[in-house]
Amino acid sequence: MVNYEQSERLRKLPPYLFVRLEELADVKRKEGMDMIDFGIGDPDLPTPDKIVKSMQIAAEDNDNQKYSSSQGEADLREAIAKWYSKRFCVEVDPKTQVCVTLGSKEAIFNISQAFVNPGETIIAPSPGYPVYSGASALFNEAKCVRIPLRAEDGWLLDVDRCPTDAKMLYINYPNNPTGATCDLQYLQKVYDWCQRTGTIACYDNAYSEMCYGDYRAPSMLQAGPDCIEFGSFSKTFNMTGYRLGYAVGHPDLVAGLKKCKGQIDSGAPIFIQKAGITALGMYHDDGSLPSVIKNNMDIYAERRKVLVEGLRDLGFDVAMPKGTFYVWFDCGIPSDEFTANMINLGIIVTPGPGFGDSAEGYIRMTVTEPTERIKEALARMKRASVHGPCYAGDAQ
Ligand SMILES: Cc1ncc(COP(=O)(O)O)c(C=O)c1O
Repeated sequence: MVNYEQSERLRKLPPYLFVRLEELADVKRKEGMDMIDFGIGDPDLPTPDKIVKSMQIAAEDNDNQKYSSSQGEADLREAIAKWYSKRFCVEVDPKTQVCVTLGSKEAIFNISQAFVNPGETIIAPSPGYPVYSGASALFNEAKCVRIPLRAEDGWLLDVDRCPTDAKMLYINYPNNPTGATCDLQYLQKVYDWCQRTGTIACYDNAYSEMCYGDYRAPSMLQAGPDCIEFGSFSKTFNMTGYRLGYAVGHPDLVAGLKKCKGQIDSGAPIFIQKAGITALGMYHDDGSLPSVIKNNMDIYAERRKVLVEGLRDLGFDVAMPKGTFYVWFDCGIPSDEFTANMINLGIIVTPGPGFGDSAEGYIRMTVTEPTERIKEALARMKRASVHGPCYAGDAQ
């Protein structure tokens, strides 16, 4: 008999959050219900034409059909370094400080493989992107200490509450799932704390370009060079399916990541890397967003406004996020109960505890549905008398 029992390491991992939600939604779809999806953070808007065309042209060239290298092609690493200079005024060496990644998710996982020994401590925020505590820590047999983020701190991780003997720390702003943002002064505080305690700072900047109004997200590399930062083409350019990202930072950290990846993958397809060069090249010389990306952000801004204001009308206390496409709020009842109620109305939301136990009672909604669909969802909630904890009764 072949033994198909999964490894202990794998069995320790919880099922990935969105698999369970999709199963629940599928049951309703099969019953014929029209589902409005505010679940997973996957842009509904298309990849800009210029990027798609450049990928198509590149894919026809035989040279671009071969293996890349796991660290990525030199021309994309140079384009990333140039973009860091334009966007953040940070100078990095494309040879030693930049690595192309298969989206940022794999790099977030592989960095812990490269630097954390079994039993060592990884600090991850709660709520936070599930990969920090799941694959990065559990799968690597590291000990994960989850630090609760608090509404009263603006959902900013308070480093003074973190253990000082950890090997690695993950933080992420603009933040998934809370939509919270931070300024450079805050990143400097985290950076200095990591320097003092000898903790490797991993800054997940996957949403750096998803900012509203005058807010522009900083890079941790503006605080200093001794950290590693992960970025992504996924959300900025609506390229989630292309699987393209980057890691930039201290040469020793990038070297460890490259060594790890060298054993695992053979790099993103070269024609996709060419599309990445086109994407970054669309930025203006002063680091401002290309108009097509700015237009996308205007669309998200409008949707976010409609959703936040609609939820407030229903009695939920909701902050207007300055970044990301997430709206985060206290639903007033257990998150799973709220999520189930919403599924029955044909509305998919994400329960807070999927991002960490301390987010019980919270809900995340992603504005990846057109405005009319958001209004339809709010109307369904109103018809079903869904009310938040601040509801003061119907206005007469
Ligand atoms: C905080 C955060 N980091 C990283 C990622 C990974 O994105 P990708 O692998 O597509 O770059 C996501 C995806 O949702 C995310 O929310």
